[in-house]
Amino acid sequence: MCGIVGILGREPVAPSLIEALKRLEYRGYDSAGLATLEQGRLTRVRASGKLRNLEEKLAASPLSGTSGIGHTRWATHGRPNETNAHPHISDKLAVVHNGIIENFRELREELAAKGHVFATETDSEVVAHLVAEQIREGAGPAAAVARALTRLKGAFALAFLFDGEADLLIGARRGAPLAAGWGEGGVYLGSDALALAPFAHTIAYLEEGDHVVLTRERVTFHDAAGHEVERRRQPLQAGSFLVDKGNFRHFMAKEIHEQPEVVGRTLSHYLDLASGTVRLPFELSFDAKKLSRVTISACGTAFYAGLIARYWIERYARLAVEIDIASEFRYREAPLPNDGLTILVSQSGETADTLAALRYAKTHGQHILSIVNVETSTIARESDTVALTLAGPEIGVASTKAFTCQLAVFACLAVALGRARGVLSEAEEKALVAELAATPGLMADALAHEARIELVARDVARASSVLYLGRGPAYPLALEGALKLKELSYIHAEGYAAGELKHGPIALIDYAMPVIVLAPPDATLEKTVSNLQEVAARGGHLILIGSRAAREAAAADLAGFVELPDIASAFAVLVYAVPVQLLAYHAAVFMGKDVDQPRNLAKSVTVE
Ligand code: AGP
Repeated sequence: MCGIVGILGREPVAPSLIEALKRLEYRGYDSAGLATLEQGRLTRVRASGKLRNLEEKLAASPLSGTSGIGHTRWATHGRPNETNAHPHISDKLAVVHNGIIENFRELREELAAKGHVFATETDSEVVAHLVAEQIREGAGPAAAVARALTRLKGAFALAFLFDGEADLLIGARRGAPLAAGWGEGGVYLGSDALALAPFAHTIAYLEEGDHVVLTRERVTFHDAAGHEVERRRQPLQAGSFLVDKGNFRHFMAKEIHEQPEVVGRTLSHYLDLASGTVRLPFELSFDAKKLSRVTISACGTAFYAGLIARYWIERYARLAVEIDIASEFRYREAPLPNDGLTILVSQSGETADTLAALRYAKTHGQHILSIVNVETSTIARESDTVALTLAGPEIGVASTKAFTCQLAVFACLAVALGRARGVLSEAEEKALVAELAATPGLMADALAHEARIELVARDVARASSVLYLGRGPAYPLALEGALKLKELSYIHAEGYAAGELKHGPIALIDYAMPVIVLAPPDATLEKTVSNLQEVAARGGHLILIGSRAAREAAAADLAGFVELPDIASAFAVLVYAVPVQLLAYHAAVFMGKDVDQPRNLAKSVTVE
């Protein structure tokens, strides 16, 4: 994930920009750069590799400007080299960017047709030229940014510095965090509190869709509609930023909202978005063509990620998948194919049952690939290959962003296996990668429905039992939704394959039991709608999470409806996970439960 910082100071800002970027190194990067205004003129210094390379360049040619922006880059579009390092400039401004601009190609063509010349293959440079074009058309810097933002699709955070404007910084956020800060030395922009801690005594987080205009005298926030708004200022105490809730009441809420950013970051670690291909950050320690089967084992939410992945691995890699919960797998003495691939999934990388399953598989000659969120964990250390989820620290006991990042890794792995086995064409790969690239932005769109989801959650909170239904990849998501509700609100809930309703659970239907139907617009939608109507016909308490098309097809009385975009993607479950998580979260909050530390639960179950 990239790191962003901006400073309007009273002293030369280059040393402070470097210090702030060093505090963002934890986010991972492969190049860095900064831009300042030297006598009002934009001056840029960039370097590939670590920050010390940038520092060496600055030592050779120091910058004295008192306003500047800085960036650490994790390559998404374009190779990790100096040319592609941020800031990117056009003739009027410099920009630094964190996230993915999905529609950068069409914007690039439109701007090139207007005479803009591009120096890089990055999506970020397109933003610089898009804003410059608005300025060319007569807009001032703030209006130019506001107009440009309406053209961008994706999940991103941005900071801008303008030629000749020594008292102006502009920032914007959609799906990736950005904060404004106030300190003795000036005003600041940063990706998180950690970056601003040395300088700012007060911080305010931009909300989804906001942009902010900073001068040394005034900081003005604008919401997605462009209206001037206030954003809560909070003291920035040293140390508090280590695990910082930001504007959120709970870590779980923050982590749900971080998903567009961290899923985008994880995807950019496994995809080459410029070429539209999967680029795994590791070699496969086996010949994918010789695999006869993949075995997956995990616990809890991680297990449900594996259940979803089974659909993708079987469909795109044409590989049979055997999957079981680790606490059963390790005692079954399951026969495993010689030289087979076993995948363990674990956020903590320390779950005892999953570790035991790993060791069982290892003694039976398996290639061990683990999908973990902690690179130094025991499971990672005992694996042949580690596929990292870049979710960042997950503090809430209920797993949310780790789950969707696990799905992101699995999706990339399924496509890579399909390509390696010669059963997935390059065109199919490009189409699937394009769908994955659009996912963070769609997750950000789903977050915008939170107020509606909260109302539905208050209805669900009154129940003593809840049924979740789904088909295809949405069936394991129904299991995950039931787990989230159980572990957070302590309401009994059950996930079921929608097609199984008639084979028993339909006897449960009465208005006292909400039935939550997950209906992504895939090939099974028509059947799911039929199940929904079977519930309605028996006076069921129906809640639909789906597209407007599903709502219209259902033509039933619904107690609740959460509308999601009409996502024709094989990976829609990543987007559908957002309302499923928010529903459980808000039900628990409404019931006054301890959301971040539910009773009886541990974040990592290191005992059997
Ligand atoms: C997730 O919400 C649960 N708290 C729990 O099921 C968790 O997913 C499970 O314990 C596995 O943990 P791990 O991913 O760290 O292995």
